[in-house]
Amino acid sequence: MKGKRSLQRTLSLGLTAGVTVLWLLGVLASGMVAQHEMEEVFDSALQETAQRILPLAVTDILSRESDRVQKTAPAMADHDEYLTYLIRDASGTVLLQSHDVDLSVFNERPGNGFYNTATHRLYGTSAVSQTIFIDIAEPLMHRQEAALEAGIALLLPLLLLIPVSLLGVWWTVRFSLRRVVDFSESLEVRGAADLSPVPVDQLPQELEPMAVSINRLLERLRRVLDAERSFTANSAHELRTPLATALAKVQRLKADLSETPSLRKVAEIEASLQGLSRLSQKLLELAKAEGGGVLSETPYNLVPVLETVVSDCEREEPGRLILQRSDAPVNSLLNPDAFAILVRNLIDNALKHGEQGSPVKVALSADGKLAVTNRGTALGPDELAGLRKRFVRSHTQAPGSGIGLAIVDAIVEGAGLHLVLRSPAPEQQDGFQAELNVVVSR
Ligand SMILES: Nc1ncnc2c1ncn2[C@@H]1O[C@H](COP(=O)(O)OP(=O)(O)OP(=O)(O)O)[C@@H](O)[C@H]1O
Ligand SMILES: [Mg+2]
Repeated sequence: MKGKRSLQRTLSLGLTAGVTVLWLLGVLASGMVAQHEMEEVFDSALQETAQRILPLAVTDILSRESDRVQKTAPAMADHDEYLTYLIRDASGTVLLQSHDVDLSVFNERPGNGFYNTATHRLYGTSAVSQTIFIDIAEPLMHRQEAALEAGIALLLPLLLLIPVSLLGVWWTVRFSLRRVVDFSESLEVRGAADLSPVPVDQLPQELEPMAVSINRLLERLRRVLDAERSFTANSAHELRTPLATALAKVQRLKADLSETPSLRKVAEIEASLQGLSRLSQKLLELAKAEGGGVLSETPYNLVPVLETVVSDCEREEPGRLILQRSDAPVNSLLNPDAFAILVRNLIDNALKHGEQGSPVKVALSADGKLAVTNRGTALGPDELAGLRKRFVRSHTQAPGSGIGLAIVDAIVEGAGLHLVLRSPAPEQQDGFQAELNVVVSR
């Protein structure tokens, strides 16, 4: 799968890389302009110097009394020369030269105007009707050094500016995305049952429509779910009284009847009515569990609740239940009524769907782990996966409607707990186990 890219990382790196490239291009352009201007200044200085020296040299040469006069201009003090010059006549004979001159730098014949050799930039001009010529040379190295230093001076601030801009961009992006990150975190931590509106006002303008759409969707979902729940609850409630009345009448009729075939038929009607009555009771429980409110304000000790439910069930099937409970209290914010409904359904299932007459183990450990284990044919993983859905039943002879585990699941979801169904049960070859930790804390 392709890795998810962080928006913050992409923006920070992209913006910094872009700014850096633009900066480098800017430095390159200003470096080129600066070099061009420097060339002009250096050339002008070279020309100016040649034109200044030449008249002085001409005066000096013309006022010489003999040809044996020293041809090298004396140095005022010992120093390195950047500019060296050579004064020659038209045939190339040296008339005067600067004291540090290297003759190999100059062409054999005097030049005119600016020209370059491999190592030097030269300027040549003449005086006295083109009889005395001056060539002045400046090492190219000198100019390159100057260009290099100017380039470094332009680049150096970048070394500091790039990390600073990276930091600036990163901080700005992080600051701008902070509300988006808060928003996505708040969505992440809310449970699946939480259908309250998401906060809109703190989001950046661009993302506001998204949150508004989410809220519209949540509102619609809430209304649909509420309607469904209230319909289930109301129908179940309304059915209770007529069902109870019908059952009572059938039971009275059964007491009055003496013929066996009629008695059997009435008994069948009684069983169906009892089944309907159980179904309406379960539907009511499901509607309540799905309506939320499975958590209390203060923690309750759930051990006595478990004992009561177990002793209730024990009366129905004496001797089958084995209770292992912690001596210490197990305090939880899980509503005791919701816990009782949950345990009741799990034990009911174990007694009903487990092997006839086999023991059912109900264990609640001190840390809140509740496990209900029974024997019986093991279920396949595919069957196990669908059992929590409403009206889904596996192959079983026992009466029922397939709502028990849906009620348990709704309570577990509402409390933010985690129910695990296993078949075969751990440490057994067969059977079924439902396990969850019932401790809910603040
Ligand atoms: N302890 C168990 N052992 C074996 N199978 C189980 C056990 N608990 C549940 N099942 C399987 O899961 C199915 C769904 O259980 P659920 O409690 O939802 O419905 P039900 O018990 O059949 O009916 P209802 O609970 O509405 O009376 C059951 O029909 C049964 O096949
Ligand atoms: Mg059940």
